[in-house]
Amino acid sequence: MSVGNDSGPHPVSTAEGPSVPIHLRPATEADVPVLVPLLLRLKRLNEEFDPLLKVREDADEQARNLLKANLSDPKSVVLSAEGVGADKDKVVGFVRAVVRERPFYHPEFEGVILDIYLLPLYRRRRVGEYLLHEVSAALKAKGAGVVTAEFPAQNEIAVRFYAKRGFRPITAIHARSL
Ligand SMILES: CC(C)(COP(=O)(O)OP(=O)(O)OC[C@H]1O[C@@H](n2cnc3c(N)ncnc32)[C@H](O)[C@@H]1OP(=O)(O)O)[C@@H](O)C(=O)NCCC(=O)NCCS
Repeated sequence: MSVGNDSGPHPVSTAEGPSVPIHLRPATEADVPVLVPLLLRLKRLNEEFDPLLKVREDADEQARNLLKANLSDPKSVVLSAEGVGADKDKVVGFVRAVVRERPFYHPEFEGVILDIYLLPLYRRRRVGEYLLHEVSAALKAKGAGVVTAEFPAQNEIAVRFYAKRGFRPITAIHARSL
């Protein structure tokens, strides 16, 4: 799929595992009401991994505002993954990313994957790999020369998922309560 084009259902199929058909497309304003609960599911999952990631009471409103801002920001990429068949027209996952300048390093622009989430039934069927591939292409098209991923260090799913796709840690954020 090229971002900006609606490419129709895309069979995710590899020699190594089961497949599940997915329709990946740029998110629109109309998706915001369904993306908000998915984004919050991800943040609540992260909360389970780390008490310093306690979800705020107004997270719902924050998510809505953030997604709306992303959708009108040319430096952002938000892709919605729709199911097919019984899940046709149902958003079953998404990926959210942004292009950021790196003032001190080459390449000058990085594409940062901020959130990636699939409903449990869609996991471990290489749909995540497909999302990663497509968001990377979209970020590259926006000028990114490197792709990075931000996720909680304690989120073992993310650690393994990205490591399997060749990502390695380059910076770390360490925290302690005040
Ligand atoms: C992260 C996510 C998008 C990956 O999508 P996916 O379709 O499951 O991933 P793929 O099928 O392409 O790749 C599977 C690999 O991801 C990792 N992985 C996925 N789910 C995992 C789990 N529950 N536990 C450990 N590793 C897991 C493993 O490396 C796995 O490879 P394996 O099956 O050989 O062990 C999806 O699992 C998800 O939504 N997880 C919950 C949300 C989350 O943690 N997001 C990342 C933080 S931003």
